[in-house]
Amino acid sequence: AHFWLRGQEPARAVEFDERLGVWNVYGHPEAVEVFADPGGYSSDIVHHFAPDLPEYERSGMLTQMDPPEHRKLRRLVSRAFTPRLVAGLAPRIGALTHELLDRVDGGSGLDLVADLAHPLPVTVIAELLGVPSEDRELFREWAEELLARSEVAAVGRTARSADMVAAVLDLSARMSAYFGAHAEERRRRPQDDLLTALVRAEVDGERLSAAALGNFAQLLLVAGHVTTTILLGNAVLCLDAHAGARERVRADRTLVPAVIEEALRLLPPFSMFYRATTRAVELGGRRLPAGQVVALWLGAANRDARVFADPHGFHPERDPNPHLGFGRGIHFCLGAPLARIEARIALDILLERFPALRTDPGRPPVFQTTPEVVGPRTLPLLTA
Ligand code: HEM
Repeated sequence: AHFWLRGQEPARAVEFDERLGVWNVYGHPEAVEVFADPGGYSSDIVHHFAPDLPEYERSGMLTQMDPPEHRKLRRLVSRAFTPRLVAGLAPRIGALTHELLDRVDGGSGLDLVADLAHPLPVTVIAELLGVPSEDRELFREWAEELLARSEVAAVGRTARSADMVAAVLDLSARMSAYFGAHAEERRRRPQDDLLTALVRAEVDGERLSAAALGNFAQLLLVAGHVTTTILLGNAVLCLDAHAGARERVRADRTLVPAVIEEALRLLPPFSMFYRATTRAVELGGRRLPAGQVVALWLGAANRDARVFADPHGFHPERDPNPHLGFGRGIHFCLGAPLARIEARIALDILLERFPALRTDPGRPPVFQTTPEVVGPRTLPLLTA
């Protein structure tokens, strides 16, 4: 479905895949239309893939919720996860980046993912939540397991079998239990961290239930580190492939934020999201019945020639850059300020410390293999 990787343009902005029974949305205005209409396009798609799924605890899973429940929870967690909190992390993110790079043996190069792009966001989110960052190996295992499962799912929709769903639910329950236990601890002994803030957050006299807290913390951990890891890798790959932009940002590092935005456009880390139609809708001149699965291909929408000039080129100077890398509308990425600040600081420091940074022709990167996740798993780089 990543048509651009095959060098083809989509025939239409909205196409029906007969084999999978999924409506693929490739166009930018059409994707924006879907994001803007949560009433017509529900985010609660789990039951469309697994209608026989046994009931399980889903409270707190913000990405899968529709209004009005979504609005309530989003307000509640926004009370704890504030832009001010994130802005205050900048010095720590800088120090951590230097610390991680100090460990790299500059002579032999580095693996951007293992040495920086993974440990940085996972440590930041663990410290922010207030869970031991020594558990980050465990978090990595969880994230790998989740990605591996969605890999199975990508091979064929039918592989979203009862077994696989059961395995994902089991993993999810383990993660929620872990965070639930830490949150319980905070209820008894408050600390200066996000878990404590979440325990205390209140909207209209209501607080998060223990189950909702566990699920939400789990979502933050997964959404909050895999994507940022990949974003940093993709930004470095974009600069590596586009010498002109690389030279410009080296000469003027105030371009770093724009480089990150353009990397989010060209290679959005999570490139596909599902919705399900709740009623008959019209989209891109097509008529979709109720109860249909819609796949929003953000990477395709981000290269829509109706919106972006030279859509396959890498132009950090693009202004405006209305990419959909963080989504749009009510589900717009809650962690966008954190992802942006982490990626900007890390890339800035990388360029400062290793101005000759480039890919290693002898050791090409290894990529994620799920269509939903676009970016490197390993990215060996030469530093001199
Ligand atoms: C939602 C992308 C980093 C937490 C989203 C959505 C996208 C996205 C596209 C919208 C999903 C939808 O509409 O169905 C990204 C990318 C990231 C990133 C590309 C990094 C480069 C983070 C971080 C956190 C985070 C660091 C938290 C620490 C969330 C949450 C939601 C979300 C909680 C759900 C919001 C809602 O449903 O209201 N993200 N994200 N994300 N993201 Fe991110």
